[in-house]
Amino acid sequence: MPALVLLGAQWGDEGKGKATDLLGGSVDYVVRYQGGNNAGHTVVVGDQKYALHLLPSGILSPGCTPVIGNGVVVDPAVLLSELSGLNERGVDTSKLMISGNAHLITPYHTTVDKVTERFLGKRKIGTTGRGIGPTYADKINRVGIRVQDLFDESILLQKVEASLDFKNQILAKLYNRRAIVAEQVVEELLGYAPQLKEYVADTTLILNDAIDAGKVVLFEGGQGTLLDVDHGTYPFVTSSNPTAGGACTGTGVGPTKINRVIGILKAYTTRVGSGPFPTELLDADGEALRDIGGERGVTTGRDRRCGWFDAVIARYATRVNGLTDFFLTKLDVLTGWEQIPVCVAYEIDGKRVDELPYNQSDFHHAKPVYENLPGWSEDITKAKTFSDLPKNAQAYVKALEDMSGAPISAIGVGPGRTETIEINSFL
Ligand code: GDP
Ligand code: IMO
Ligand code: MG
Repeated sequence: MPALVLLGAQWGDEGKGKATDLLGGSVDYVVRYQGGNNAGHTVVVGDQKYALHLLPSGILSPGCTPVIGNGVVVDPAVLLSELSGLNERGVDTSKLMISGNAHLITPYHTTVDKVTERFLGKRKIGTTGRGIGPTYADKINRVGIRVQDLFDESILLQKVEASLDFKNQILAKLYNRRAIVAEQVVEELLGYAPQLKEYVADTTLILNDAIDAGKVVLFEGGQGTLLDVDHGTYPFVTSSNPTAGGACTGTGVGPTKINRVIGILKAYTTRVGSGPFPTELLDADGEALRDIGGERGVTTGRDRRCGWFDAVIARYATRVNGLTDFFLTKLDVLTGWEQIPVCVAYEIDGKRVDELPYNQSDFHHAKPVYENLPGWSEDITKAKTFSDLPKNAQAYVKALEDMSGAPISAIGVGPGRTETIEINSFL
């Protein structure tokens, strides 16, 4: 099983960090392929808790080589501080590899992200303010700065000037901000170059060679399927492709080399930021899910919006990612409810709809059609096998599997590495 993708099947924060870390001990490379430090991936090892933003979660497994692929956007200041934070906690980060083609988030991208959100007012996306959208916009506009540009001062200055030319007009004339001085940006970026140089590598060549040699490569998505710029709830999305195809474009590994695509699926639903969310609960159940599930953002500290499980979304994730498996997380959070509603379809303008509507307005009007499943009250955090689960919890998992279109191959029953029930091996 040389290459697998692990990605979020909902709106992010499904527990990708935990799932990646769990597999990290058995894989040779863990690769981030899109997004940047908008991600917040939590890994709990024993009594130690790690919050990773830019680094692949495999960095915590000693035998594993972490890779930042070309599709990622890299804030060099954040990267260096994340590395030194891990080093202080005794984690060896020396194996890290970064694609020279990855784009850099500079301070002006972060500024543009924040002022744009302010300008949008009540139409804002609710971004993480980390400069993600403006950096990808520059990439597509062909005025981006890449990691490799850090090592050629005159090219770097030319590129920063080209990028700022237009932005400074907007900043000054539209947003009433002071223009940004290219030389100052270049000076700051050059300050990071010596520390970053040792990590830069031809990651596409290395990963393809590794797969050809039978090594196990795991592609770790940031965000989630419904935050995908093409397949998500546009415009309330991030600016990259967390869906499975992004693993190919974001690393230079062809689709024929990928054997398995695992969707990480929370046993209920959460979302951070603006946008439609049919099963959102604005009542005591929503509060309870937030409290019991600890649903507070790892990156921005914002409360996550919470709601019941949505099988329409899970089916959609199976379709657009070609999922081979699900990893169902946070089943333990649902312990204690007498009945657990699950959204099986939508009602849109009086009609039942079984698939995610492609029309944005329809999705905004979608009302969940619920089926109530019986709950359980027993503590499940110590369960090691599927049969250890109470009958109603087993039935809940089976029902979700039947509705979602791919087998549930693992179940999370707590945040720790060991709090997992493995049903089918991923490797
Ligand atoms: P990610 O962005 O997909 O990596 O997810 P986050 O780390 O942002 O959020 C998931 C949260 O759920 C983290 O606090 C995890 O420690 C926690 N978590 C992951 N799996 C489980 C689980 O099975 N049960 C419980 N109770 N918590 C979990
Ligand atoms: P992980 O990897 C949840 C959301 C933001 C906002 C939208 C766009 O931890 O699952 P951006 O800063 O990317 O331009 O914001 O996307 N968002 C996330 N929500 N988990 C994440 O990452 C997210 N990364 C971005 O809240 O709605
Ligand atoms: Mg997260």
